[in-house]
Amino acid sequence: MKITVVGAGNVGATCANAIAQKELANEVILLDIKEGISEGKSLDMWQTAPINNYDTRLRGSTNDYSVTEGSDVVVITSGLPRKPGMSRDDLISTNATIVKSVTENIVKYSPDTIIIVVSNPLDVMTYCAYLNSKLPSSKVMGMAGILDTARYRAFLAEEINCSPKDIQAMLLGGHGDTMVPLPRYTTVSGIPVTEFLDEDTLNPIIERTKKGGGEIVNLMGTSAWYAPGSAAAQMVEAIVRDQRRIFPVCAWLNGEYGLKNIYLGVPVILGKNGIEEIIELKLNDSEMKLLKDSANAVKDVMEVLDNMKQ
Ligand code: NAI
Ligand code: 2OP
Repeated sequence: MKITVVGAGNVGATCANAIAQKELANEVILLDIKEGISEGKSLDMWQTAPINNYDTRLRGSTNDYSVTEGSDVVVITSGLPRKPGMSRDDLISTNATIVKSVTENIVKYSPDTIIIVVSNPLDVMTYCAYLNSKLPSSKVMGMAGILDTARYRAFLAEEINCSPKDIQAMLLGGHGDTMVPLPRYTTVSGIPVTEFLDEDTLNPIIERTKKGGGEIVNLMGTSAWYAPGSAAAQMVEAIVRDQRRIFPVCAWLNGEYGLKNIYLGVPVILGKNGIEEIIELKLNDSEMKLLKDSANAVKDVMEVLDNMKQ
């Protein structure tokens, strides 16, 4: 098994480190455009192998895609992160150029690979990778929902004063302020969350989750990397171990939820072929309205990308 992570910055390096520590592959390639950075970081990580007791071989590459040949899964994290005051959508023109060229180079050497996009604006960058890879949509997906539900689950665990391991949650929609956390599908070891928290406590947690990325940008001056890197590695794990895990993933919709030709966060089964199945929940009217609003917000940014190509 061979996995490539493009972008050796904060998220990419964290993701490659998690993949190696979990021994998800024999070989992990870390690639970046900046001279020496991926070689240096992968050498440093490889030197943790005797300490952390793994044998996954990490190698770095400065923009030489021939080294990535035959990758089973590729995680794309290359691109600018947010600065305070910026929305994820502000990154579109720079990151679209980067994601397009990275995708073309990747599929040249790994024509059957599965691509997980992390770069922002997430839903639209996943669309960009899909358009330029010419791969089936089951093999091109984006990471956001695992991160967003992890934030939601962490906040809930703190409020309930229980282990985050016991919080199960689902979330739909785009990776932005219009994301749709679903309290009706949130349980604590199978017990509905509403048995622990009333609406007045739950609603601020939902609002904090929606702005969870921005909270960290405001604290650090750049966006998060530990949870995003771990979340992308968890998707890689589900694929390479054919776990058929059910996760919220940014997937191409073809009529599901009444939506077509759009990348949006929905529950999927993730396995060796990538997205094995999209799960359609029976949403009530208010959940469906929130999902449609989120889809409209994503569509607007997809249009910006479509117009950039003309
Ligand atoms: P970073 O600045 O630490 O790393 C980005 C890396 O990409 C840099 O090392 C840069 O040299 C590299 N790069 C730029 N152009 C490249 C190219 N053409 N080819 C190869 N490498 C290239 O940024 P960070 O924090 O790692 O974030 C990466 C991206 O992930 C950002 O767009 C950020 O907004 C996004 N992000 C998405 C999340 C999600 O939930 N989907 C969560 C966190 C970050
Ligand atoms: C995050 O949610 C900025 O998308 C990034 O942390």
